[in-house]
Amino acid sequence: MSTWLKSAVFYEIYPNSFKDGNGDGYGDFKGMTEKLDHIKSLGANAVWLNPHYDSPFMDGGYDVRDYFKVSERFGTEADFDEFIKSAHAKGIKVILDLVPGHTSEQNADFLRSAESTPNELSDRFIWTKGEWDFPQGFKAISGRHDRKGNYVVNFFSTQPSLNYGFNRVDDPSWQMPHDSPAALATREWLKSVMRFWLDRGADGFRVDMADSLVKNDGDRNEKPKTSEIWRDVRKMLDDEYPDTVIVSEWSDPQAVCAGFHADFMLDHHGNPYNLLVRGEEEPGVYSYFDAEGRGDAATVAAGFSEWYGAVKGSGYLGIISCNHDTPRLAPYYTQEQLKVIYATLFTLPGVPFVYYGDEIGMKYVKDLPSVECGFARTGSRTPMQWNLEKNAGFSDAEKTFLPTEQDKQVNVASQEKDKKSLLNALKSFFAFRKTRREFTEPDFEFVHAKGAEPLVYKRGNLLCVVNPLKVKQIAPRVIPQKSKTLFAVGKEAKPTKTNITVPPLSFTVFEVIGG
Ligand code: GLC
Repeated sequence: MSTWLKSAVFYEIYPNSFKDGNGDGYGDFKGMTEKLDHIKSLGANAVWLNPHYDSPFMDGGYDVRDYFKVSERFGTEADFDEFIKSAHAKGIKVILDLVPGHTSEQNADFLRSAESTPNELSDRFIWTKGEWDFPQGFKAISGRHDRKGNYVVNFFSTQPSLNYGFNRVDDPSWQMPHDSPAALATREWLKSVMRFWLDRGADGFRVDMADSLVKNDGDRNEKPKTSEIWRDVRKMLDDEYPDTVIVSEWSDPQAVCAGFHADFMLDHHGNPYNLLVRGEEEPGVYSYFDAEGRGDAATVAAGFSEWYGAVKGSGYLGIISCNHDTPRLAPYYTQEQLKVIYATLFTLPGVPFVYYGDEIGMKYVKDLPSVECGFARTGSRTPMQWNLEKNAGFSDAEKTFLPTEQDKQVNVASQEKDKKSLLNALKSFFAFRKTRREFTEPDFEFVHAKGAEPLVYKRGNLLCVVNPLKVKQIAPRVIPQKSKTLFAVGKEAKPTKTNITVPPLSFTVFEVIGG
């Protein structure tokens, strides 16, 4: 069982947008290798790389054409190997994105499966029996291939579903059981993909739509047969690649029961993560960090405690600043608010994931035309802002993948020079976090969570006190004995005999002495 995940701090790279090393307007491995020091200097020791595979990019690379090949857009096979080697040399682990549920419609196995004559891959994908069958509850595509039948897709119409079988078989004329030879063969193929990249040096995978494999498999929090597959995969990893990890896009404690080392708590409506920082994405809902104080810490704490209680001891929660599917937190929040928000998010019990650009507060760019089926997500995928040179230092090309933003303050070079910048605040925060093992141990408890009042929680002997508002607040005196202030964002909170005075927009960590 791998041990490094516990103290991992991840940096998510969307390869198109991070750094262009060959001047073609798209990010690539050369550029990523060049910028590893930036990741390290932030205090991250792991990278999650969005899909790097050969792809027609009809869904930002989540439509894989060849699972065993690096996209030429991102460089050569050797550039990939060099990136992994350089990351490892700097003490940075790399997990890749695994897309197990669907391929690209241009994938060779899919095209073979689409042939009208039955062959060894006919059942690798899910096809209805007849060309006029449009089964309820599935998205099936018709009239694209000469095979008699329609194929089920998992997400966009360009992403045919791989066949891991069905739990509940409603129509045996085309639905195969999850333990049929064809379904088991797909599972073995998936393992071969994983082995291929682990042998190339990858340290694990972020698993895309991990709950989507077996069809008719109950709700998100059940998925018994999909879970069985992942437990089998986990066994393979434990036996053959014990130091590797799998992190799921599932967003339910069930993922940890299914063998994932960690699972993202995503920005789904009603999730405690949303109610903490992203409430505004739901009409009439406010997050705890709402500057007007309309959020409610009690709801956040209740939801989070329940969720955390369900995974504690068996796996971790992945806590994100944002990701490639999610609007960035800026400009909902100012840089001063973001400092407090990041410190809060990343002292909750979980593994931190910083999305590229969030460390400098890059904005979600509104109203961008969709590129490569990013749709609303496109605004969170704009090129990294390194400096004030051409294309914000991202690329020398005349035209870049997406337009770059020139912002005097929101770029790495300016923020490195500015002691008070978001980047430097996050660096000091991660440097401090690293010094205290309490933040990576399971001990955690909310001590005070009520409305927009200061939020107080314990990590072992450490007490974190957060004020989300722009006004001073008073928290009840919850520190039993003597205490020592270890770290603060903004002005530090001050315990008096009866309470704690918490300055506006602040985050303080106390060590409880003898408590
Ligand atoms: C996941 C990815 C998203 C992709 C989808 C289909 O949600 O994060 O970017 O479009 O799966 O693969």
